[in-house]
This record gives sequence, C-alpha cells and structure tokens, in this order.
Amino acid sequence: MGAAIGTAADRPFAAPDQGVDQTAALQAGVARAARAGLAHEPNAAIGHAACAAAAYAFLNRSDPSPGTAPVLHGAPPSAALVARGAYLARADDCVACHTAPGGKPFAGGLAFKLPFGTLYSSNITPDRDTGIGAWSDDDFVRAMHDGIRKGGKRLYPAFPYTSYSQLSRADALAIKAYLFGLPATPRATPEPDLAFPFNQRWAMGFWNVAFFRSARFAPVPFFSSPNFRRIRRCATGCSSPQWGPPTPVKSTALGARIR
Ligand code: HEC
Repeated sequence: MGAAIGTAADRPFAAPDQGVDQTAALQAGVARAARAGLAHEPNAAIGHAACAAAAYAFLNRSDPSPGTAPVLHGAPPSAALVARGAYLARADDCVACHTAPGGKPFAGGLAFKLPFGTLYSSNITPDRDTGIGAWSDDDFVRAMHDGIRKGGKRLYPAFPYTSYSQLSRADALAIKAYLFGLPATPRATPEPDLAFPFNQRWAMGFWNVAFFRSARFAPVPFFSSPNFRRIRRCATGCSSPQWGPPTPVKSTALGARIR
C-alpha cells in the first residue's frame, strides 16, 4: 500500500503522525472544533444547528402543485386511459370485425365477401410487422378520422371510419392505448381480392367526396343532456357493417335503438 501511495513528502497536508488516514484527521478536527464551539460559543453553535435544521426542512419540502404531465415517448399509458380505451373499443365493437373465426382477438383476417370480391379485416394487434405496432398516434388518428392508413393509402369503408371520424382525438388515442396493451399477434392480413376498379384504393377518395365528411362529434344544443349525448354518440359513432352511404346522422340519432 505504502509504495502505491507515496511518501509523506508527496502529501504536504498530512502530518507525519497521521499517516495516510486523512479522513480520520478530518473527523478528529471537526470533533475538536465542535467541542471548542460548544464550550466557548454556545450561542453560535445553537445558531448553526437552527440553520441546518431550517435548510433540512426547506430542502425536504413537498410541492403542493398538481403539476403537468409532459409527453413521455415510450412511457406506459395510464391505467385510466387504457380502461377508457377498453370501454370505447367494446362500444365500437372492434373485436367483432377484427377477429377471424378461431383466430386470436384483434388479429384480423375476417373475410368480407362483397359483390365485387373479398376484403379482409386488418391485424390491429401491436405486432410491428403484421399489425399496427409501428403506427404513431397520428397514423392511428388519421385512420380513424379520415380512413387513411399508415403510408397514405386509403382504407375501404367496410372499416367504419365514416362513423369513427366522430370520435375525439383523445378517445381515438384511448382506443390505441388499449390496443397497444394487448398481446402482439403475428398474423399477416391477406391482400384484398377485389375486381377492377374496386382494387384501386386511391379511388376511395371519390367515394369519400360523395359520401363522407371527416368531422368530430358536436353536441346538438337542444339534445345535449349527458344521457342523450351517450345514446346519440353510440347510435352514430358505433359501427355496423356497411358498404354504401352512411345513414344520415339525424334519423339514426332520433330513431336509435341501442342493444
Ligand atoms: C364493420 C367491421 C369493422 C369494425 C367494427 C371495425 N373495423 Fe377496423 N377494419 C375493418 C376492415 C374490413 C378493415 C380493412 C380495410 C381495408 O383493407 O381497406 C379495417 C381496417 C382497420 C385499420 C387499418 C389497419 C391497416 O393495417 O391499415 C384500423 C387501424 C382499424 N381497422 C381499427 C379499428 C378499430 C380501432 C375499431 C374499433 C373502434 C375497428 N377497426 C372496427 C373492419 C372493421
């Protein structure tokens, strides 16, 4: 040990009798000073102790502000958000269309047989390769509000974005939070097998021009009681298989029958 540390001449601040243990020397010095302080200046010692106690209390104080929640990318979503998403996903019945017979929930593959071919529901589990695990919040909201999938291609309105367009961004993202908490199921969605011109996804832009308006739900002042709002949102924002113009909002809202 001595060879590695060097001689006393290398350590100008160490007294020869203290060797290399400078910590012990420091402690002894502090103890001597404290004894001297208490003996000769009791008021100063009490003052120092009071300052130390005040500093301790100040540095340990609690912040009464509720605070704000910054966006933390990659942080787990809150349990309340996931519960809300589970409720909305159930109300909107995503699982019914997104589960093939005998298949894993939400992994897609249910065939929609149409007069001009067959379309399959997508895998919407968080699998990154075959599901929507690589989708950002904006990707997901765009699909729900505008019927456009990640990458910019148009979705067919067998996916009822025509209704989901009414969901607020917050509600859409609650559904996403719920879906992203589900097990990731790898299952490639079969390509649609549709006849020309229905196999042209871009052409759905024209269908949208004719039959779809992207818009969030807005309460009608006269019918804005919380219960009526809930019924109306469900009647217009919940899904039913469709291929054609969505039913006008007013008639479904007022003639709504909720199962
Ligand atoms: C009436 C059946 C139906 C319901 C209900 C339904 N979907 Fe779909 N969804 C589809 C079909 C069919 C597709 C594929 C459309 C296509 O290929 O253009 C699809 C596609 C999607 C896509 C695009 C995935 C991709 O890879 O491009 C997302 C996201 C999606 N659905 C989410 C949902 C969510 C969330 C719900 C519930 C709130 C839901 N869907 C309810 C039928 C449905």
